[in-house]
Amino acid sequence: MDDEARLLNPKPDGEDNQVEKSLRPRNLAEFIGQERVVAQLRIAITAAKGRGEPLDHTLFYGPPGLGKTSLSNVIANEMGVKIKVTSGPAIERAGDLAALLTNLQKNDVLFIDEVHRLNRAVEEVLYPAMEDYALDLIVGKGPSARNLRLKLPRFTTIGATTRLALLTSPLRDRFVAPHRLEFYSDAAMCEIVTRSARILGMPTSAEAALELGRRARGTPRIANRLLRRVRDYAQVVADGHIDLAVARTALAQLEVDDLGLDANDRRLLRAIIELFNGGPVGLSTLAAALAEEVDAIEDVYEPFLLQLGFLQRTPRGRIATRRAYDHLGMPFTEKTQPLSDESSAQQGRLF
Ligand SMILES: Nc1ncnc2c1ncn2[C@@H]1O[C@H](COP(=O)(O)OP(=O)(O)O)[C@@H](O)[C@H]1O
Ligand SMILES: [Mg+2]
Repeated sequence: MDDEARLLNPKPDGEDNQVEKSLRPRNLAEFIGQERVVAQLRIAITAAKGRGEPLDHTLFYGPPGLGKTSLSNVIANEMGVKIKVTSGPAIERAGDLAALLTNLQKNDVLFIDEVHRLNRAVEEVLYPAMEDYALDLIVGKGPSARNLRLKLPRFTTIGATTRLALLTSPLRDRFVAPHRLEFYSDAAMCEIVTRSARILGMPTSAEAALELGRRARGTPRIANRLLRRVRDYAQVVADGHIDLAVARTALAQLEVDDLGLDANDRRLLRAIIELFNGGPVGLSTLAAALAEEVDAIEDVYEPFLLQLGFLQRTPRGRIATRRAYDHLGMPFTEKTQPLSDESSAQQGRLF
């Protein structure tokens, strides 16, 4: 991926890690936006603490960079318990999960990122652990093999996924409380940029914070990354002060347009329009034309383009909408537009 791609890619990169630590909200009061989810969590946490019990198994789903990992850490902090962090692909064998489970203490959080990527054998061990706080082991081989059931302390599993549809239904059913994270409003994004700028010691005007927030695709991770890029620019040309003019010029240099689309988003839309006559084009064909991974298109590019109503998902493939043509300043022809706006809104609903 080129530089622009890395800038707007909502997945974490190495450079993010140290800065992300300092920017990550630590408790619910510091967590901006997602009011509905936060209100539900606040009640669930208070109730669980009052009973001295672990929080119900909780699932966070939604596009990358919206705060799933942050919220999981916030929960552990608010509950006053330890969090063990792992991920679907990291747990290769049932024994790996058994090792994690037997190290948990009462009410602890087991955080499983990319929980849709757990393999079958591991899931089979997780079910009774979540449901009955039990670890079923098979001891011995052949006819003398016996089932052994170990008791586990009561604990909370928190799963995070960008792809709810890929979760097996038995696993999905075991999460008592699923929460969908949404793209943030402009107001919340502005608050997040202001907070991050303060923590990073960057003088930023209110207008600049609003502009940066508005152009970060409703995604806090992208806002933080933009802010750091703009800081370099501000340091060189404006004594480190980020005002509206500095923010706008820096964003233009980074090729982030007025709606927050970057060069790769525009390349994707242009490909559908120019190479495939506006669509429909199948996902894998589109991926091949762009030399991109299918997963990157579905996880990173599409959610926001769907939200903007620039893209439709249909059974026959992806379609660029009239709005996409207009945004790119390309002439729109009626024959490339077989679906109505209503179905666009429905197709746009990802989860
Ligand atoms: N509600 C929020 N308020 C402030 N910052 C946030 C919020 N949500 C996310 N962030 C920032 O965005 C970054 C990415 O969030 P993260 O929890 O890693 O997203 P996800 O796990 O969904 O990909 C975090 O490091 C944090 O600094
Ligand atoms: Mg995460």
